[in-house]
Amino acid sequence: MNADRPTFPGQSPSPDSAPSFAIRSLVANADGESVYRLWQEALGPRWPLSPERLATSLGLAEPESEFVGLGAFLDYRPIGAIAAEIIGEDQAALILIAVVPDHQRRGVGTGLLDRLKRTLGAKGIRTLTFGAGASQPLWHGVPISLPSALAFFERHGGILDETSYDLVGTITDFRAPESLMERAHQYGITFETLRPEFAPALLAFEREHFPFWQPFFVEAIANGALRDVLIARRQAEIAGGLLLSEAPYCPGAQWAQRLGPRLGAFGILGVAPAHRERGVGLALAAYATEHRQRRGVQTCFLHWTDLRDWYSRLGFRVWEEYRLGQLPVVN
Ligand SMILES: CC(C)(COP(=O)(O)OP(=O)(O)OC[C@H]1O[C@@H](n2cnc3c(N)ncnc32)[C@H](O)[C@@H]1OP(=O)(O)O)[C@@H](O)C(=O)NCCC(=O)NCCS
Repeated sequence: MNADRPTFPGQSPSPDSAPSFAIRSLVANADGESVYRLWQEALGPRWPLSPERLATSLGLAEPESEFVGLGAFLDYRPIGAIAAEIIGEDQAALILIAVVPDHQRRGVGTGLLDRLKRTLGAKGIRTLTFGAGASQPLWHGVPISLPSALAFFERHGGILDETSYDLVGTITDFRAPESLMERAHQYGITFETLRPEFAPALLAFEREHFPFWQPFFVEAIANGALRDVLIARRQAEIAGGLLLSEAPYCPGAQWAQRLGPRLGAFGILGVAPAHRERGVGLALAAYATEHRQRRGVQTCFLHWTDLRDWYSRLGFRVWEEYRLGQLPVVN
């Protein structure tokens, strides 16, 4: 820490609660190490993470104007940190708030959140998501395995009204169920890796039905990564699509220490409304899972889905449950 930088008094709720701590901005290239120590103390055992990934997610790897990071320091020891990324004109994503265990329940988290809200409010930000929308989020919501965080955000007016999941499957021996594939074939569906002649039709399909996901397909095609796009096709018509990815570039890769080696994923799976409820989507998911398995993936990660029971039919189980929502910055 640089002692010359200006510091501000923290906000201890009562005289017997905590020794006074100072809050100051975190500085890229300088504070990464101390925030990583803090991470290790507050979250490390359950959420092991590399120092590099933490620094990138918090915008501490290099100076980044869209990130706001604050640390709470007590006698130069970092006892708490908070960081957010501005993701729109009036919206930011909260990437992290953490307080070391021996200083929790003493108002440190509240002091950090209040200061962050004031800093963001001055920049015109009105709401904070719980990670969703960030360029390299750690989580896309609040994990329910962190009950102190849920209680803290509820206490501070957070609206946590949506549930979603990260799912995981050990797919070493996975084979797509024959009855499922047969049903899709009977309906005239074939599954395949995207070929250049179908790329325009796939992009039109995504634009029409899943505009939020279209940029990911545009990027994959622009990068020549056609082998990472799977489609369900009914003659010349695209009925469904999805994207494949692998560690270290797949969702969940930040948690590779927990998830283990040979990690892969598929996601943003969508089926056109006209072809739904005929088993096309589940057959596409089964095709993708077997495809992952044949490419050597052992653990398949399905990120940010509410289709818990649907994917359970292929053997996927809940890895973590999240509460999603927003925290008003301006009351
Ligand atoms: C969440 C966290 C940052 C809160 O920091 P903190 O400094 O302990 O929070 P505060 O003392 O300011 O708490 C303010 C209020 O939040 C609620 N709260 C905080 N921790 C709580 C807990 N463990 N159980 C129940 N309520 C809690 C209470 O209402 C508390 O007020 P009170 O102590 O007067 O009852 C801290 O528990 C932490 O670092 N947890 C591990 C990391 C983590 O889960 N981060 C979030 C990732 S999404």
